[in-house]
Formats: sequence, C-alpha cells, structure tokens
Amino acid sequence: MHPRLIIAIDGYSSCGKSTVAKALAKRLGLQYIDSGAMYRAVTLYFMQNNIPIPSPEQLHNLDFNFEPVLDKIHIEFRVNPETGLSDVHLNGVDVEQEIRSMTISEQVSHVSAIKAVRVRLVELQKKAGVMGGLVMDGRDIGTTVFPHADLKIFMKADPMVRAERRFKELSLKGAEVSMEDVINNVVGRDYEDTHREESPLRKANDAIVLDNTYLTQEEQVEFVMKEIVKLNDSVKQDF
Ligand code: DC
Repeated sequence: MHPRLIIAIDGYSSCGKSTVAKALAKRLGLQYIDSGAMYRAVTLYFMQNNIPIPSPEQLHNLDFNFEPVLDKIHIEFRVNPETGLSDVHLNGVDVEQEIRSMTISEQVSHVSAIKAVRVRLVELQKKAGVMGGLVMDGRDIGTTVFPHADLKIFMKADPMVRAERRFKELSLKGAEVSMEDVINNVVGRDYEDTHREESPLRKANDAIVLDNTYLTQEEQVEFVMKEIVKLNDSVKQDF
C-alpha cells in the first residue's frame, strides 16, 4: 500500500461516508479527516457568537466581512484517547458531539455556501493533505480539494433510506427529533449542497459511484478495497 495515498469520498448527506472513510483509514493505516465536521465547527462558532448566517437568497447581496471572524476560528483534529478516533476541536474545545445536533445540521448548508468560509476551509484541507496518506470525506474533495486524488468515490443512497439511518442514529443518541424533520433536513441539504454557487456537490468525472442503498457497511468497504487493489495493479503495470 502506498503510504501517501489520498482517497477522496464525496456524496450526499447521511450516506454513511464517514463510516466507510473511517473503516478504510483504519484498514489502510491512513489518517481520516471529516471535512463536514470543519463546516459544522464553523457553524457552531457562528451560532455561539451571533454571526449573521445568510439564507441562499441573501448570499448575493451580502454586506458582511467574514474574514475577521474566520481569523478567530481555530479548527484542529485531535485523537480522543477513549475512542481512538479524531475529534474536531474548535478553539481548543472538543465539539465532536455538539456539532452533530439538528440545530447545527439545519444551519450548516447555509454557512458552507459562504465563499469566504469555503476558501478558508479548503486551504486548511489542502494543507492537511500535503504529505498524503489520508482519507477525506465531504462534498467537494474529489472536485476541488484533491482533484488529483488517487481514488475518488462518490456515494449516494435513496433519500428515504438515508433519512431512516439518520433518524435511528439521532434517536439512539437520545435526540428528540421527528422523522419528518430528518427527512426535510436530508432533502433540504441535498438541494442546497447541489445548487450553491461555490463548489457545489457533484461527482468528479473520474469518481466511482457507490450506491449503498442496499449494501451493508462491510460490503461498502469491500467495494472500495477492490478499487484500491485495482489501483495497486495499475501501479505495478507502470514498472
Ligand atoms: O458531511 P456532513 O453532513 O457532516 O457535512 C455538513 C455540511 O457541510 C453539509 O451539509 C455540506 C457541508 N460540506 C461542504 O459543503 N463541503 C464539504 N467538503 C463537507 C461538508
């Protein structure tokens, strides 16, 4: 396995991208970076500090300089000794749990449509990949962050199946949400993520589609592992 391999995983919300990405990173000894967690952490900061969050209609006539706000936001990933996984930290505080709430999910698509936010986070994400050796998931990883990634996967699944999975996950965590709210959130985010002006969610031309509507987690990881083996084979043929 090439230690500097970069795997980009993009796709719709609640598709299980992070589950597959984490499993792959573990199996291949690569670092895992959840780029969505970075947008969520910025959203949390905006909400905590009453920073105006523009609606898609307001984006065009925006008269607000986000740069000084972004200068105050420091995001990093640190390994949580209890779980062995990387948690996102916002200005030194572990916010991994807090950023998964419905309140954040309802605002994050608006925040991630702000150009200044995207420019700042893409810069950070590119830096994280300078040495290679990582799996990153998000919406624009194969198209914008790592257009030369060794392997690009584009994940999708039936929206109702995604909403059911998300509902179960939130309910298990004790969140009081209705299935209707979750469906609206999933469908709404799909729309906003694919229609925003700044690097909208779309499949990179060279990405491989993984539709996981009827696949188990193991089957999804096996699917990607097979693609990695193909990569290795083509590298061998180059010699
Ligand atoms: O993967 P997620 O659901 O945690 O991502 C949260 C939001 O962040 C999602 O609605 C869109 C945005 N996002 C993005 O615009 N670009 C990325 N690379 C990752 C996430």
